[in-house]
Amino acid sequence: MPGFIKIATKSELPDEGEAKEFNCGDKMICVANVAGEITAMDNVCLHRGGPLGQGVVDGDKIVCPWHGWQFIAKTGEAAHNPTARVALYPIKVEGDDVLVEI
Ligand code: FES
Repeated sequence: MPGFIKIATKSELPDEGEAKEFNCGDKMICVANVAGEITAMDNVCLHRGGPLGQGVVDGDKIVCPWHGWQFIAKTGEAAHNPTARVALYPIKVEGDDVLVEI
């Protein structure tokens, strides 16, 4: 049954303009804070599998730390090729818990 899984507490969320990796079940996901809005996407870069959650946030994009591919945080689209996109996941904060639906 799909459902929301707790991945972190609110205080562990990335600061504004940063991204972080979190375990979610048997996956890693990339959680980013873009101007105060929290997003969750697959952690695996479509280029060669770089860890997006170890990248940086540049404007509305997450930049892969390996070779610089950029993904739009709200859509998961690769900035240079909108037909390539990483999966986005619903994320919400309930009380002190951060929950993601895979
Ligand atoms: S692995 Fe992400 S840009 Fe190459």
